[in-house]
Amino acid sequence: MKLVFLVVSGIVLAVTSAFLSVKLLPDDNHVIPPPHVGESLDASVTTEKFDPGTVERGRVYYAQLCVSCHGVRGDGLGEWAYRVTPYPADLRKARTQMRSDEMLFAIISEGLIGTPMIGWKKQLTEAQRWQLVTYMRTLVEQKESGVGLDVGYEKAGKKS
Ligand code: HEC
Repeated sequence: MKLVFLVVSGIVLAVTSAFLSVKLLPDDNHVIPPPHVGESLDASVTTEKFDPGTVERGRVYYAQLCVSCHGVRGDGLGEWAYRVTPYPADLRKARTQMRSDEMLFAIISEGLIGTPMIGWKKQLTEAQRWQLVTYMRTLVEQKESGVGLDVGYEKAGKKS
């Protein structure tokens, strides 16, 4: 009787654990791939100036790729600024803002030889580089209105 009980409970245990292991193992179909630049966002969007969608996309790429050097305000005071020579440009200044869109596009694409400013044409599509140009144009307005990428930082700062 004792033996039968042991065998039966052994079987129950084996079946339950087999069932659980199947249930608990991660299902490959439900693994969400990590976000990838240019993959999740539609690159075929209009590059029309100051279209909110264009600015927003530019903002995302700027935050991911440029902020470390050029800073949240575009003032060239990013975290990495003090580690590179020459210092990253203040993108709100006339030197940059007086350049044509085509020139800014070319700089973003090809980089500036002899500086840490690399070209991004291998990483970003043409549309994405234009979105960055458009976003860079909004940095001046942000300076005047005080609203921009850094709005969260300012709020956080006020709390403490
Ligand atoms: C590793 C740091 C670094 C990163 C990252 C970086 N830059 Fe730069 N950037 C620089 C430096 C350094 C210069 C050159 C400043 C100079 O010539 O005095 C520069 C120059 C520029 C200029 C030309 C400014 C001018 O008018 O002469 C533009 C435009 C620019 N960057 C845009 C961008 C954009 C857009 C991104 C993101 C896609 C980016 N940069 C990422 C460091 C960086």
